Amino acid sequence: MKNRNLISITDFSKSEQMQILDLAAEFEKEPIQDILSGYVVATLFFEPSTRTRLSFESAASRLGARVIGFSNAASSSVSKGESLKDTILTVSNYADIIVMRHPKEGSARYASEVSPVPIINAGDGANQHPTQTLLDMYSILKTQGTLDNLNIAFIGDLKYGRTVHSLSIALSQFNTTYHLVSPVELKLPSYVKRPIKEKKLAYYQYTDLQEVIPKADIIYMTRIQRERFSDPMEYEKVKNAYNLENNMLDKAKENMRILHPLPRVNEISTDVDANPKAYYFQQAKNGVFVRQALLASILGVK
Ligand code: CP
Repeated sequence: MKNRNLISITDFSKSEQMQILDLAAEFEKEPIQDILSGYVVATLFFEPSTRTRLSFESAASRLGARVIGFSNAASSSVSKGESLKDTILTVSNYADIIVMRHPKEGSARYASEVSPVPIINAGDGANQHPTQTLLDMYSILKTQGTLDNLNIAFIGDLKYGRTVHSLSIALSQFNTTYHLVSPVELKLPSYVKRPIKEKKLAYYQYTDLQEVIPKADIIYMTRIQRERFSDPMEYEKVKNAYNLENNMLDKAKENMRILHPLPRVNEISTDVDANPKAYYFQQAKNGVFVRQALLASILGVK
């Protein structure tokens, strides 16, 4: 995987994805290793982030790399009108790898086409979030012992949710049964359903959350994302569509775990947090190990 870009989850084959998960497990056992000493990692975040940026920076720091970058486009020369191409060409003089989040779909692919150093897509608009997918796969593997033949329920904003798009495409490699719960306005787009249909996997669409709880091995909750709606009235109609409460989990399977890429707003009540089925904060922690594996693999030291 040395010098490769990671823009879409399909840029890495199934066996490469599994290699990243195996390496993440090694880093989980031994997270402090001085293997990236002398390397510089740039994190360019044109859109807000807590987990993705900080876990990448934590991953790089724990491996001995230096981190440069910005967390707000307003503090970069983009605010003076500099183009994305000029920004990438400039930063590539200062860093060995660039982790970039941008609000525009396709921006990460474009950056990879002009960049002399590898680009990792940390989320491009409503399109993809492949590093989140790898940590989601790692979390599913850890909690279920397998990625194969699981019932996965995706809940919430399936239309604009980039984490849902990347993960649902990745899981089509594992004979997944899909339970897709959303308001009708926020159904999974057809281009994301394509691999599910091509592989003739079972998928069921719902508007009611309660119906899927007893069926699921994983409940993947997502936020209805205000920032993706061009019409605020449309957001108002659906913003409170789902609220998972602790008292709704009585009929859940014993092994079921609740994932959420976070941040959450009101779609999971805080009374769920103490339930052993709630796994979203451990999921965020897993992000450090998976991102260590990505940095080490793409920089060619593992
Ligand atoms: N899951 C995720 O992408 O979170 P952040 O927006 O905080 O990075």
